[in-house]
Amino acid sequence: MKVLVVGGGGREHAVIRKLKENPEITELYALPGNGGIARDAVCVPIGAKDIPAITAFAQEQKIDYAVVTPDDPLVLGCVDALEAVGVPCFGPRANAAIIEGSKVFAKNLMKKYGIPTAAYETFSDLDEALGYLENAPIPTVVKADGLALGKGVIIAQTREEAVEAVTEMMQGKKFGASGERVVIEEFLEGPEVSVLSFTDGKTMVPMVSSMDHKRALDNDGGLNTGGMGTVAPNPYYTDEIAERCMKEIFLPTMEAMNAEGRTFRGCLYFGLMLTKDGPKVIEYNCRFGDPETQVVLPLLESDLFTVMRAVTEGRLAETEVRFADRHACCVILASRGYPEAYEKGFPLEIPEAVCDSVYVAGAKLIPARQDKTGGAELLVTNGGRVLGCTAVADSLEQAIRDAYAVAAQVHFENAYCRSDIGQRALKAAAQ
Ligand code: AMP
Ligand code: GLY
Repeated sequence: MKVLVVGGGGREHAVIRKLKENPEITELYALPGNGGIARDAVCVPIGAKDIPAITAFAQEQKIDYAVVTPDDPLVLGCVDALEAVGVPCFGPRANAAIIEGSKVFAKNLMKKYGIPTAAYETFSDLDEALGYLENAPIPTVVKADGLALGKGVIIAQTREEAVEAVTEMMQGKKFGASGERVVIEEFLEGPEVSVLSFTDGKTMVPMVSSMDHKRALDNDGGLNTGGMGTVAPNPYYTDEIAERCMKEIFLPTMEAMNAEGRTFRGCLYFGLMLTKDGPKVIEYNCRFGDPETQVVLPLLESDLFTVMRAVTEGRLAETEVRFADRHACCVILASRGYPEAYEKGFPLEIPEAVCDSVYVAGAKLIPARQDKTGGAELLVTNGGRVLGCTAVADSLEQAIRDAYAVAAQVHFENAYCRSDIGQRALKAAAQ
């Protein structure tokens, strides 16, 4: 079978590696993929948001199945477009991807169906938002309505910061149209848990839980990033909490989307906070998390392609989804300076012995030169987050040690990683 994966980050690399375990897949394409993914799939230089080019490629190549993983194409209707030309897909249609595409939609859905989340107000008028902030409890959280590369959330510690955030979003158009509406919500406290789930709209199968490390520096200092590392499972997520989440959050969300005529089929990501009043939803994503996927999929024992097709065809209830009772850790190697300014273009060395433990996020291949210098093909860094090093082991401690051992073998100039990925989880597990 011919399968294409839309996207080109570490998450897509992890999905592709897992898909490759299925011998039925004879040709695997990544659009656009990246220089590291090129080892595992044929990379085609078509951008993940170029939906007409993606559908044209799928038709020309007679693609049998497509996996759409990034938020932008999902929200833009990539699945709808592929289905319209007869290509079955893994991923929600645009009318369901809105659960991530609009925070106002997500918050209103939760309110309507009684799904626990932070109390909130939504605004499309700047003066009204500023008026509300005069008496809002501080700290408060300001969120741009639409997609903003994970940067549209401001935790304001003072009233002034909140006013500045709202003004920048609504008047300064810091996030373009994404900030025309804002959500201002209650500040919640407690450990965070990511739970990815498979759902076909009838059945909901949560995957192993995980913990992201969003801040750039050790001890959760520095700026928010796309994620500097992950561990799975998340020790805060006990069986008792899992049961409660299923009953109070996961199933009600699936049913709410059905009731709205927006059946969600694909991977629904629950960003949860375990507050003293119980688990609450911080965010929904309409896709696999990055870098959560790089620890969750290595623990999946069942065949990913089989599970994905069952989701598409509404057969998830009859399909086994089994995870290993082990631990995984992923350490991200980034370019120094990320998430602000950083340099790229440095040669990247990934020894053969650790290739299978590395998921490449930001790298490109410089083709071999035909000129007199005869330079060989070269892999160079091409992004803030360059790659993730994942290890699976019987204990969390060992998984952390092994992931850092892999990271120590990968070299590029200006490489940076946090040194404490998994430490908070280790402490929590020891309690
Ligand atoms: P997001 O971009 O929606 O994932 O949010 C980024 C981060 O902001 C989350 O992972 C949380 O750590 C934090 N956050 C979002 N909403 C809240 C909230 N209501 N209370 C406290 N922290 C929050
Ligand atoms: N790691 C968080 C996300 O994928 O949005």
